[in-house]
Amino acid sequence: MQPTGRDQFLKLLQAALSERTLSRLTLGKYRGDDATLQKLTVRPVDLKSGPHFSFVWRHATRDITKNLSPAAAETEITQSIGLDQFRDAHLFTALQSVQLETRDDGRSRVRIKMANHAPPTADATHNRTKDHLIDRKAGWLRDLGITNDRGLPRTGQSAKLRQIQKFVETFTHLQKSSGLGGEAVLRIADMGSGKGYLTLALADLLGSKAEITGIERRADLVETCNRVAQTHDLPNVQFRSGRIDDEASGLGRLDVLIALHACDTATDDAIAAGVDAGARLIVVAPCCQHELRPQLSAPAVLAPALRHGIFQERQAEFVTDALRALLLEAAGFETRVFQFVSTEHTAKNLMLAAWRAERTTSTMRPAGLKAARDMAAFYGITRHALARRLGVDLESS
Ligand SMILES: C[S@@+](CC[C@H](N)C(=O)[O-])C[C@H]1O[C@@H](n2cnc3c(N)ncnc32)[C@H](O)[C@@H]1O
Repeated sequence: MQPTGRDQFLKLLQAALSERTLSRLTLGKYRGDDATLQKLTVRPVDLKSGPHFSFVWRHATRDITKNLSPAAAETEITQSIGLDQFRDAHLFTALQSVQLETRDDGRSRVRIKMANHAPPTADATHNRTKDHLIDRKAGWLRDLGITNDRGLPRTGQSAKLRQIQKFVETFTHLQKSSGLGGEAVLRIADMGSGKGYLTLALADLLGSKAEITGIERRADLVETCNRVAQTHDLPNVQFRSGRIDDEASGLGRLDVLIALHACDTATDDAIAAGVDAGARLIVVAPCCQHELRPQLSAPAVLAPALRHGIFQERQAEFVTDALRALLLEAAGFETRVFQFVSTEHTAKNLMLAAWRAERTTSTMRPAGLKAARDMAAFYGITRHALARRLGVDLESS
């Protein structure tokens, strides 16, 4: 039997709630027993007890507000949609808006539109202000050439400034949802720190609550970043010159590992370093996924589509990053993959976040390993840098 529009809508809703991509849900055209009820609006909120959803029932003369857990929210919404309930539902997520209409005869129809706005990603915090977490007039932003004396982005730097703000918002959210925060001082490493935008942003954001080390192979960038940190009184951050795989062992225990746009398999070196150092939260934004492309042998059915280079490239990116996520799950992490800034800011905008409750993982999880191996086999992959670094043989069964 064909799924109804309602079924399709509820499936998308379930995904949006569990992946926390829902930015807003509105229910309208109420046809139930309550003569004063007009509309229901649902938004994500972060409470001390964890992620919840805020429900506002709009009545003719008053609003009723309640915060519900994700499971309770799903049940409440499911029960509120239908012929004798709210007939219209509008779901807004990071990537799309989905509209459900229920007709008088009970049949329902779904319409999906891709969003053309910057996705809200993981930043739905209760107390989020319109303003940004990093002061645009921060001296370090000016010294790195991002802003001018008035705190406005210099020509060509608006996207970078937005990316920095978005990154700290996302980080703040991940820090909460991963349960980190109880630690007196977070030990953070940023691998492939480059010009230090994001490293310095975290140092600015977290102050004395963090000790941050940026690792970067270009000594000139390291020198500049250390100078900027000193000049602007950010003693909680230091930059070290070297290669990720050489420097990682000297970092000792870590709470958080970050690697944004570290090239190709440097991302895998960074992830593995985070796993080894006991990091509870790993946040990477991979780029230049070259390693797998020569190995990929997709099933014959995909061959005609894959004669287009761009599809091959996207497939290589997908397989590389999906295997990273599966391997991290096998290593005991929960993972989430999402778009952290809009494509208009940078095309390299996929973020993989992984967190675990315990610092150490004794053994790899068989179910996770099987998922990674099955996927690798499907695409003919025998070598993957992260698998190698984690001691996983992708070919064994
Ligand atoms: C594209 S930049 C990104 C910089 C920064 N993470 C950001 O997102 O703004 C990548 C940086 O990683 C550095 N890098 C790449 N591979 C590295 C490795 N194996 N060890 C240390 N640094 C590396 C490069 O020199 C470059 O500065």
